[in-house]
Amino acid sequence: MKEFSPLISGPEAAELILESIPSPVILVNNDSTILYINGSMEKFLNVKRSKIIGRPLIQALYNGQAFNKKGGYRSPLMETLLTGREFSGQLMEIKTVYNVAPRLLKVNTFLIKDAGGKIKGACAFFSSNAHDSRIIQPSTVPSEQFETIYAFAEAIGARDGYTMGHSEKVAEYSRLIAEKMGLDLKTVDLAYLCGIVHDVGKIGIPEEVLNKKGPLDSEEYRLIMGHSQMGASILSHISWLDDVVPIIEAHHERYNGTGYPRGLKGEEIPIISRILAVADAFDAMTSDRSYRKAYSLEKAVEELKMNAGTQFDPQIVKVFLELLREYM
Ligand SMILES: [Fe+2]
Repeated sequence: MKEFSPLISGPEAAELILESIPSPVILVNNDSTILYINGSMEKFLNVKRSKIIGRPLIQALYNGQAFNKKGGYRSPLMETLLTGREFSGQLMEIKTVYNVAPRLLKVNTFLIKDAGGKIKGACAFFSSNAHDSRIIQPSTVPSEQFETIYAFAEAIGARDGYTMGHSEKVAEYSRLIAEKMGLDLKTVDLAYLCGIVHDVGKIGIPEEVLNKKGPLDSEEYRLIMGHSQMGASILSHISWLDDVVPIIEAHHERYNGTGYPRGLKGEEIPIISRILAVADAFDAMTSDRSYRKAYSLEKAVEELKMNAGTQFDPQIVKVFLELLREYM
């Protein structure tokens, strides 16, 4: 008979189990103070647990906003705590302050009660299955189109984590801008999809050029500048992405005609490309890169204002700055 060494027991064992679970787990007190998050949740949120443990759930993860625009609870865990409604494997959109783009996850929540049935707190765990947690399929986008875009997103992510995170944020900003501009739902959804794949052409650029710390030589510049046409060329082989191709090709055109690859000007540039240009620049400026630290929000806003009318469509900058005021 094989000998088994005894497991540790008591609270230590409970914590060891929670830390070993590949699903993100979060535990709150009955006054909604965050008591614990496990390592998977730290990874999902991309934040150190010391920053959020001990804080009220809605403050720490939802910027103090308990409800979404439609009046629903932003946090299923909060809903469980306040209403007693428990979730079991339900697919839900999760978007905390740490996730720029919403994620579709399978959510499980339950109340924690003592022996007398008194509520002591609540716990949530989310499915960590990659197929359950994915970029959300916009309502007007047919499945085959979305699946193709999703496959490209995975390819970008496998190659380069920074570009994937950047693409998700550009997608989300672009969707919000298009919505605020009053564009129709199909265009809003298309803006989101284009954000996801706008840099797909970077797959062809060598790693050392993409993340080079020093200045680029002319050949390296040529490679980087080729990515918008390369992306358009890759996507052009898929017939149902016809709408996406010219948008991706033009995402580095500039409003005053000094961009690339064609030097298109003003309204010659597709509207979604003009939106992507603003979203792309803003996210690039506000992220740390291998060659420089992130700009402050104020400095990034200054840059957008300074380049409105030259690099960027001034109307789109105006809308984006309004959005920033609303959200931040
Ligand atoms: Fe780009």
